[in-house]
Amino acid sequence: MKKMNAIIMAAGKGTRMKSLDTTKSKVAFDLLGVPLVGHVLNALKPMDIETIYTIVGHGGETTKKIVKNDSVVVWQREQKGTGHAIMQCAPYLAGKEGTTLIVSGDTPLITTQSLQHLVDTHLQGGFDLTILTSIVDDPFGYGRMVRDQHGRLTAIVEEINANDEEKKIREINTGFYVFNNEKLFRHLNDLPPNPKNGELNITFLVKMFIEQGFNVGTDTVAAFEETLGTNDRAQLAEARQILQKRINHQHMLNGVTIENPENTFISPQVRIGQDTVIQSGVYLIGDVTIGVGNVITANTTIENSTIGDRNHIESSKIIDSNLGHDNHIGPNAHLRGHTVVGNHCRVGNFVELKKVELKNGVKAAHLTYLGDCLIDENTNIGCGTIIANYDGKTKHHTHIGKNVFVGSGSTLISPVHIGDDVLIAAGSTVTKDVETGAMAIARSQQTNKPGFYDHWMKKIGKK
Ligand code: UD1
Ligand code: CA
Repeated sequence: MKKMNAIIMAAGKGTRMKSLDTTKSKVAFDLLGVPLVGHVLNALKPMDIETIYTIVGHGGETTKKIVKNDSVVVWQREQKGTGHAIMQCAPYLAGKEGTTLIVSGDTPLITTQSLQHLVDTHLQGGFDLTILTSIVDDPFGYGRMVRDQHGRLTAIVEEINANDEEKKIREINTGFYVFNNEKLFRHLNDLPPNPKNGELNITFLVKMFIEQGFNVGTDTVAAFEETLGTNDRAQLAEARQILQKRINHQHMLNGVTIENPENTFISPQVRIGQDTVIQSGVYLIGDVTIGVGNVITANTTIENSTIGDRNHIESSKIIDSNLGHDNHIGPNAHLRGHTVVGNHCRVGNFVELKKVELKNGVKAAHLTYLGDCLIDENTNIGCGTIIANYDGKTKHHTHIGKNVFVGSGSTLISPVHIGDDVLIAAGSTVTKDVETGAMAIARSQQTNKPGFYDHWMKKIGKK
């Protein structure tokens, strides 16, 4: 079997995105937690491809970071068109036998299935070039597939080169091609520049191939939406809606309740167990795993985290953290920095946890900041507790034992070690370790001055 390679064109500037950020390429724009070009890579990965080459250029350092684990990065220092982009792969591919699949980095909705169909059409038809086409209502901006009176393809004509007749053609070039690799690189150097803008367009190869008597075929994609190009932010939003619908639909068929799918945003790689209920405005972004029977209420964001079973998560933010089962989080809790919560815990409203480990049955129900600490089983953290973990230079670690009762309004100045079965009196500022079984009280004695109210008011002239 001759080998297949793939090329992703991802060097273009993305002028139509109108971004002020010159370090960002169009293909780095986010679509449900994955950059555009990441979606294209994910569609290619399951295929039988020897090497994927990604052509980077504008904002290339950013693109490189996204693709470098899955592809060979090839630089196109000046962006002189899609044909010129492919030329940059000549040092790797020129003269080689086999097929080359070419895709654009800005068409994130393409599926492995449609790409495989294109490749199969190419191989079974014995073609030298096969183009994926689509029939659309509004072909504006796309290359048009021009055919003669017998329906035979003669050329692809770009929007800027098209005459009025050609502009009416609704069959368009989707920007996906399979080439006989040897013929591709043999003819690439003969590409004439586009007379309108001087660019070297890969689409001009079609006419050249036909004139050479090569076998050129087409394959029409089943669903146009798969080939939607995301050239501007309106198309990006359109792509998001389509992908979101695809992802949410699958979860619902798998037994997840999504109350408002139009307003729920789930990354492609997220896994969710059955009977989990997701309310409106929820974002599940990145590498997220959620177990069964959870309730996730409105406006919760969960990023790169693992959630066990039967948790109740109310309008909270959970980043880079792990939860066990049967916990109650929120409303308005914030877990971050690799926080780990065991089982049967309560993390209540306006509680922030940063790099904290809560063992089973810990409760911190109200208005609390806990950072860089381990809290052992069944300990209760009173309202308004603060762990002062940062001295301005270093973050210090605190350990709180089992069955501890931390009174409301306490401040624990890290590093401090609290044993098991300890009571900390409300309003204490704890700076010293407390041994198991003790009570710590660290606040000044109260003094009452009888009659002082009248004395003071007279003094300030209010009585
Ligand atoms: C291209 C096709 C058009 C097709 C459409 C489908 C050409 C000339 N036209 O138009 O026929 O209908 O895709 O979406 O190919 N790129 C580079 N280097 C460059 C220029 C572009 O790597 O010098 C990359 C871009 O980053 C992008 C892809 O190639 O990912 C396509 O370029 P783009 O400018 O988006 O082409 P379209 O105008 O959409
Ligand atoms: Ca495009």
